[in-house]
Amino acid sequence: MKKQNYTIAQNRLVAADTYKLVLSGPGPVNGEFVHLDIPGYYLRRPFSVCDSCEGSLTLLYKTVGEGTKALAKLPEGTSLSVLTGLGKGFDAKACKAGALLVGGGLGAAPLYLLAKELKAQGKRVTAVMGFNKADEIVLREEFEALCDTFALATLDGSVGTKGFVTDALKALQLEYDYFYTCGPMVMMKAVCGLLEGPGEASLEERMGCGAGFCYGCSLQTTQGPRRVCKDGPVFKMEDLIW
Ligand SMILES: Cc1cc2nc3c(=O)[nH]c(=O)nc-3n(C[C@H](O)[C@H](O)[C@H](O)COP(=O)(O)OP(=O)(O)OC[C@H]3O[C@@H](n4cnc5c(N)ncnc54)[C@H](O)[C@@H]3O)c2cc1C
Ligand code: FES
Repeated sequence: MKKQNYTIAQNRLVAADTYKLVLSGPGPVNGEFVHLDIPGYYLRRPFSVCDSCEGSLTLLYKTVGEGTKALAKLPEGTSLSVLTGLGKGFDAKACKAGALLVGGGLGAAPLYLLAKELKAQGKRVTAVMGFNKADEIVLREEFEALCDTFALATLDGSVGTKGFVTDALKALQLEYDYFYTCGPMVMMKAVCGLLEGPGEASLEERMGCGAGFCYGCSLQTTQGPRRVCKDGPVFKMEDLIW
């Protein structure tokens, strides 16, 4: 874990209530998520790493509460303290040849970085993403450019399959040896119930320290209690108790 200062290079609305935050500073970063200090708020906020390269870190966030609404108002040039190197991420090497990525909402963010890693390893990638409606879709062009197969589902049917991401999955001829999922718990539970494993899922839990010290993010798994921030947020499908 490292505490580092970053500068906001871009903080702009890219979809309904959704912002792309590009930070310049040390990079590429390790870890599945970062813990961001939003000025004026006591607790840091966790966000998945969507992309990271030399000198830059990209996050996608939704304005849901006070902290993220304050973050959306911060102008370019603002300095932010960021804890990096946090969390156990997706295991790209667990996939032998063909990966299936299933995301819901901003669960798409860490799956994008994973898709880049899988493609760099020469693997076939199918990505299926679900959103409530067309104006909430993010990373569509990026996934289309990167993946061998890409499909969308929207609840209102405005784009892609009408319904849940599981409806889009049922409509596809799926070929994969490992799946990865990230999104709302209810979605991931349905995905893990539908798909043949092996696979893994990235969980969200309220966090205090974000680094394994406070046990505030503990949850029960088939292996006993585990901390989402340190032992996860990615867990193997068979470890999860839904
Ligand atoms: C590992 C991980 C990765 C995440 N990645 C993303 C991402 O890429 N994009 C994104 O938009 N959101 C992501 N989230 C959720 C994000 O952390 C919350 O939406 C955010 O903290 C809300 O802050 P707030 O001040 O606006 O909300 P408030 O409700 O005002 O927050 C109050 C407190 O609850 C916590 N909290 C509220 N909602 C959540 C939540 N869903 N998960 C964890 N803590 C929460 C806050 O961190 C804060 O400490 C992630 C959460 C986790 C645990
Ligand atoms: S948030 Fe402190 S141990 Fe996970």
